[in-house]
Amino acid sequence: MRSVTIATISLLVSATNAALQVVSGATWTATNTGQHIQAHGGGILKVGEKWYWVGEDKTNGTAFTNINCYSSSNLVEWNYEGALLTRTSSGDTGPSRVIERPKVMFNKKTNKYVLWMHIDSSNYGEAKIGVATGDSVCGKYTYVRSERPLGFESRDSGVYVDDDGKGYLLTEDRRNGLRINALSDDYLTITSNVYTWKEKYESPAIAKKGGVYFMFASQLTGWDPNDNYYSTSTSLSGPWSGWKKFADSGSNTYASQTTYILPVGDGFMYMGDRWISSNLMRSTYIWLPLTLSGTSASMKNSINWVLDTATGAMAAGASENSYEGETATLSGGAKSQSCSGCSGGKSAGYVGGSTSGAVVFGNVQSDKATKTTVRIKHLNGDSSQRVADVVVNGKSVRTAFLPHGGGDPASSVVHVELKQGSNEIRIAGTGGWGPDVDRIMVPLS
Ligand SMILES: *[C@@H]1O[C@H](CO)[C@@H](O)[C@H](O)[C@H]1NC(C)=O
Repeated sequence: MRSVTIATISLLVSATNAALQVVSGATWTATNTGQHIQAHGGGILKVGEKWYWVGEDKTNGTAFTNINCYSSSNLVEWNYEGALLTRTSSGDTGPSRVIERPKVMFNKKTNKYVLWMHIDSSNYGEAKIGVATGDSVCGKYTYVRSERPLGFESRDSGVYVDDDGKGYLLTEDRRNGLRINALSDDYLTITSNVYTWKEKYESPAIAKKGGVYFMFASQLTGWDPNDNYYSTSTSLSGPWSGWKKFADSGSNTYASQTTYILPVGDGFMYMGDRWISSNLMRSTYIWLPLTLSGTSASMKNSINWVLDTATGAMAAGASENSYEGETATLSGGAKSQSCSGCSGGKSAGYVGGSTSGAVVFGNVQSDKATKTTVRIKHLNGDSSQRVADVVVNGKSVRTAFLPHGGGDPASSVVHVELKQGSNEIRIAGTGGWGPDVDRIMVPLS
């Protein structure tokens, strides 16, 4: 009887599972901009049935331009909603300012959204925290003020709302260590210090499971990734455990830095940034299933995985077929060219441009009619993103392709409807040059 019950449950889960994949480190194109999502150092808030992702716009580098907001109903396809804060002519949000790690919390007492963020001068000498408020999660926010929390330096920051509704600010005090500060009932004022770690960590994020608090943080190595650590406690005021690694040792947290831990159903998703300091706009997002059990946290790498947003179940992506760009039908000026890092040593180049080069995969197989995620391995030698239209059975999706950075091909993902049986996927330019296409990887189911 027991095994029958389990089998029924797992069938239900797979039936409700979307096949859309989270592909860490890939270009993630917003559904309505055709550009790589700019929400770095961000966090996610669920309001009603939707998730809202708030983060930094790095389109033009380090200096503050926008705090962006995107919405999604499945945590995979994101729609750009607008900016919560935009550069002003002077002041904290003026030119040549640093604003990082924006995190939004909803205050039930005041019905306001409260945004805390790191506020700094371009040389990071001010070391302050700033706060803004909004009436709707993705609307325009009003900037309130900045300060040094309780008089101490503050650089990387985060927020945490406990089950009882109390709000906390997480703040990195370079001289004294990482801190948890309590916030007032309206979340707008810092009232007291709750805990200080003597050890030096930054990029803090808290999650709670089974009465155990987990504080995640990175070591201090600038934009470069390191092995991130966690500490646990049954009370925010401590005592907190010693720090332990949660990702494979030596992997530098799969080349990422913690920014937020998102509870989804009964599970938790790690959100990290893979910063590219030489060209911050092409930094990507490393989102992975995080296992919290008792007082231990662990995380394995996964190239492509599927999230059930209802239950929080996280599973490996379906098995895939791979189709090479150079053996696809090449039309217009598109042609096969050598590429040392590509599978088969070749790619399809000259996509787009004045000769309208296109790569057409004429017989892409799917075992069922489904919406799924296609990975495109590509090269783009420019310093800015290229765009192409990925046309699946006649339906076009504008897709961005970040610079690959001179190494092996990079990945871009596109979420498309496939029919059962044979499908046509065509990659074509939009006027300028599209990417060189190494190959596409297509789930079978
Ligand atoms: C980036 O800079 C360009 C050129 O100055 C400007 O047109 C564009 O609006 C900027 N984008 C953002 C998001 O700040």
